Amino acid sequence: MNLFDKIGGRPTLINISKRFYDKVYNHSWLGLYFKNTKQSVIESQQVDFMTGALGGPRIYGGRMPFDAHIHLNINHDLFDLRQQLLLEAFKEENAPQILVDRWLKIEEAFRGQIIKRNISECQKRYFTDEILDFTDPNQHKVS
Ligand code: HEM
Repeated sequence: MNLFDKIGGRPTLINISKRFYDKVYNHSWLGLYFKNTKQSVIESQQVDFMTGALGGPRIYGGRMPFDAHIHLNINHDLFDLRQQLLLEAFKEENAPQILVDRWLKIEEAFRGQIIKRNISECQKRYFTDEILDFTDPNQHKVS
C-alpha cells in the first residue's frame, strides 16, 4: 500500500485542505493573496496536486508551482506563516505524522521556486493578470 492509501486517500486530503484554506482565507495578511481565487477551486487543485505527490493517481492538470506563483510577491515570512497554518490544520484534523512529514518535505522542496527576493522577480501570467504584493498589515501594530 502506498502512502496515499495508507493515510486514508482523498477524503483525508479534502478535510485537511478545507481546514487549511479556511485559515488562509481568514488571515489578515495571507488571505490578501487569494482575493482573485475561489476557495473551492484552490482546495481541489491542492488536493489533486498532493494526491500525485503522495503516490496516488496523477490527476493534477494545473500549473506547476513556479508558474502558478510567478505573479505573487512571496517572502520567507509569508511562506513560514503559511506553513504554521498548515501545521494547525494537521493538528486539528489529527493527521498521521507520516503524512505531516512527507507533506512538509514536498512543500519545502518548492520553497526556492516560490519565494521572491523582490517584486522585480514577479511576472503576470497573462495580459490581464495582477501582480499581488502586500505587507503584513499587523507588523507595525503593538500587540
Ligand atoms: C506563502 C506561500 C504561498 C502562497 C501565498 C500561495 C498562493 C497561491 C495562490 C493565490 C494561488 C492561486 C493562483 C490563481 O488563482 O491563479 C495558488 C495556486 C496554487 N498553489 Fe500556492 N501559494 C503558496 C505556496 C504554495 C506551496 C508551497 C504549494 C505546494 C507545493 C502550492 C501549491 C499551489 C497549487 C498546486 C496551486 C494551483 C496552481 C494552478 O493550477 O494555477 N502553493 N497559490
